[in-house]
Amino acid sequence: MLSAAVHISGAGPVPGIMNLSQPLTPISRAYLAKSLSNSKPVLHDAMKSNSCLNKKPIVKLRREINISLVIAFGFCLISIVLTAQAVVLVPPVSTRSNIANGGWSSLGAMPAPAWDGKTLMFHNEQGTLAVTPLSDDVIRVRFTRAQAFGRDHSYAVVDRDLGGANVVVGIGSDSTVLRTATLKVTIQHDPLRISFANNPGEVLDADDPDRGISFVGNQFRDAKLLRDDEHVYGFGEKNGSLDKRGWQLGGYNLVMWNSDTYMHNSSTDPMYVAVPFLLVMRHGQAHGLFLDNTWRSSFDVGREEPNLLTFGAVNGELNYYFINGPEPKKVIERYTTLTGRMPLPPLWSLGYNQCRFSYFPEARVRKIADTFRKDKIPADVIWLDIDYQDGFNPFTWDKDRFPDPKKMISDLRAEGFHTVCIVDAHPKQQVGYAPYDEGMAGKFFVKKSDGSVYEGKVWPANAAKNPGPSVFPDFSKPAARLWWGWLYKDLLNLGVAGIWNDMNEPSVFDSVRGTMPPDLVFDNEGQPSTHLELHNVYGQLMSRATFEGLSQFRPNERPFVLTRASYAGGQRYAAVWTGDNTSDWSSMRQSIPTLLGMGLSGFPFVGADIGGYAGMPSPELYSRWLQVGVFSPFMRSHSENGRPDKEPWAFGKKFEVINRHIIELRYELLPYIYNAMQQASQTGVPALRPLFLEFPDDEKLAGTDDEFMFGDDLLVAPVLHEGMTEREIYLPKGDWFDYSTGKQFTGGQKIKLPVTLDSIPMFVRAGGFIFRQPVVQSTDQMPGNPLKILMAPAGKSESSLYEDDGETLDYRHGEFMKRRFHQTGDDQETTIKISAADGSYRPVKRNLVLETWMDHQPKSVTLLTGYEMAGKILLPHLMGDALAKSKSGWSFADGRITVKINDGFKPMQFVIER
Ligand code: GLC
Repeated sequence: MLSAAVHISGAGPVPGIMNLSQPLTPISRAYLAKSLSNSKPVLHDAMKSNSCLNKKPIVKLRREINISLVIAFGFCLISIVLTAQAVVLVPPVSTRSNIANGGWSSLGAMPAPAWDGKTLMFHNEQGTLAVTPLSDDVIRVRFTRAQAFGRDHSYAVVDRDLGGANVVVGIGSDSTVLRTATLKVTIQHDPLRISFANNPGEVLDADDPDRGISFVGNQFRDAKLLRDDEHVYGFGEKNGSLDKRGWQLGGYNLVMWNSDTYMHNSSTDPMYVAVPFLLVMRHGQAHGLFLDNTWRSSFDVGREEPNLLTFGAVNGELNYYFINGPEPKKVIERYTTLTGRMPLPPLWSLGYNQCRFSYFPEARVRKIADTFRKDKIPADVIWLDIDYQDGFNPFTWDKDRFPDPKKMISDLRAEGFHTVCIVDAHPKQQVGYAPYDEGMAGKFFVKKSDGSVYEGKVWPANAAKNPGPSVFPDFSKPAARLWWGWLYKDLLNLGVAGIWNDMNEPSVFDSVRGTMPPDLVFDNEGQPSTHLELHNVYGQLMSRATFEGLSQFRPNERPFVLTRASYAGGQRYAAVWTGDNTSDWSSMRQSIPTLLGMGLSGFPFVGADIGGYAGMPSPELYSRWLQVGVFSPFMRSHSENGRPDKEPWAFGKKFEVINRHIIELRYELLPYIYNAMQQASQTGVPALRPLFLEFPDDEKLAGTDDEFMFGDDLLVAPVLHEGMTEREIYLPKGDWFDYSTGKQFTGGQKIKLPVTLDSIPMFVRAGGFIFRQPVVQSTDQMPGNPLKILMAPAGKSESSLYEDDGETLDYRHGEFMKRRFHQTGDDQETTIKISAADGSYRPVKRNLVLETWMDHQPKSVTLLTGYEMAGKILLPHLMGDALAKSKSGWSFADGRITVKINDGFKPMQFVIER
């Protein structure tokens, strides 16, 4: 509930606004004049893109003619396509110059607002503006050119009820000030400009005094000041550097328009996913901005004008949320309270996934599975791409290639494999094909403005037999989503474990834009609108239909859905992979900032095609990429069709051994990975984290995107360059322990580490707990295996471990086990306490193995258990491999002490006397 005391104060200075000239880089008229006359060349947001929006015909051609010819032809086509796209879809951006000459108006004076206890409402002939505090830390700003707001509807936001705020509002004649416990929002009336400050009065975010909100036609743009010492992150799936200030404040102009970007590279924009959310960091303090608008939007991070952050869309409302931190993790937590969080994934989906376009026929699929088991390379999932289908038609099987899918899937399951099948967004237009007939009967397909059903060419148009155009479900129609969800019934009855939704930008082959025409009509949940409004949300709504369908049929199982396209909030329904990347070193390096940025933007379950989709990696590149993949929340190797084999064994014996070790590491770390993913499902804070998120006060880490944290305690600096023999690593402040040797390093500096082909430099934070297990061949084999806990020494630290059955929703009813781990250490002894378990789930009987590094052999290890730790057992010291054979005891070798006991899931304490 909002409680408010309204003070009507007289005119007077508005501190938030007046302060601006101090902390912000001054923007003088002279500077403006200079920057306008001298403006650097600005690549148009779509023109600078390398995206190949019209990829599919290229893919088809590639089969017929020489690849290089196709690439050359492709680039010509790209320029034509992009020029056309830019002309058709991209209205000019409102810059200071075109405000002056392009018909843009800036929001002028607004009379003093009305306050109804929840919202401040401003009106003038230019429009209506509402400022609503949703909590002490989240303020919503909504502006429409109309005299009243339209439907308040969002595909992203699930919860605006954020608990309310204790608000004090002061309405003066010049300005209105709204205070919450942590924020001070100052709204200057003439011209209307908004600024957000924290309680000490430090300005966090402020409109550009010259411009603020501006508009022309249906378009709007908000201009905010950007300081040189601010770093800007997020924006969902974006290539380029992690910090969108770019190199030496070069800045990025980023577009939100979901696009099929075959062979994307570091300058490709837009990509497949639209998340209009950003996180600003300045000297350890963070805030976020989320523009909830599904139309084509764009963000200019100091590119057009170095000290301006501007954002806007071609239509719809200016509807943004200011999200306070000050810790960056708090911004993500609050953003994902608004837009929802990733549900806890099934454990098997966190294992190793093997895919290719496409494994067929059945014998080949079986052979792939058998090879994993025969060669003892762990794996959990085999993926079937479009060639399993009859003529690439969703919900069909090619019976020549797969005569008995049920038997094949159940045999694979017996070998410990789950099967995931692709289902694209484009049923073929063909009478007699059930998805088409039913969709027509239900009026479930996207329509043209004349009411007829839209048809476009996608994969079914490339089928060898009986090719034809496709129709496209209108996923913005609730009944169509329900129907689409039901279509999964047969696949699920065959035992399919998860679904992969692709081509849902939506991608259309035979169009200049690479997608549907702008004027198609969508239901938009009861308020019909055009493709332009629904485009960015199409993939998110498709994955929602899938997720809800799977939930219907398997009500107590965790659905697994992978999608290529999505919109803010899409984390509620599906994991995302970064589409059709390239088999080269720079693409591998690029995958890190891209995945880190997605995690910051609410999408923690993400991965890139390991090895690269288009092209063929060298054996070294494939292994290095697999090493990066160990720390991708979603770990899948995938490949384009027509390429040589890219399985972990396909690069020769020497690399098979290396690749096996890498995948084994993933399985060894699975308890830790699962724990970190569970945290992400609770808080939104991703498992894969940029260093600045964990160490916000260390300014040196601002742009770091070649090393990262996984979970709370593991720093990873993968080798990212060919032929590297030494890796330079910056370790943040504090002590760090080399994961494999236990060697201790002091942080706050760069170190150099010699590396070989199988090195993955990894460091455990002092006091960190890494939860592990012995290598297993699939997650099926986990129960009964010991829980291994690697603990890095420190004066004091704590952690927790979450476990459950890994597949059902019983955890929602308390069927989980969560234990806290606490350690203290000094010269005399190290004490490790394990708390009583929360939740009613208990794993099957197993051992607990505790490992930590010590510089000399300890004197004794005592175990205390039971009520008030009354039971005291002096554990036996065992030599050689005696510990392996014994039920309990401890051993010491190579600076590492190992303690083994039966894990009774009861509170216990170890005392290691030095
Ligand atoms: C798209 C996907 C790719 C898939 C192919 C065939 O290009 O991005 O992963 O293999 O379609 O379905």
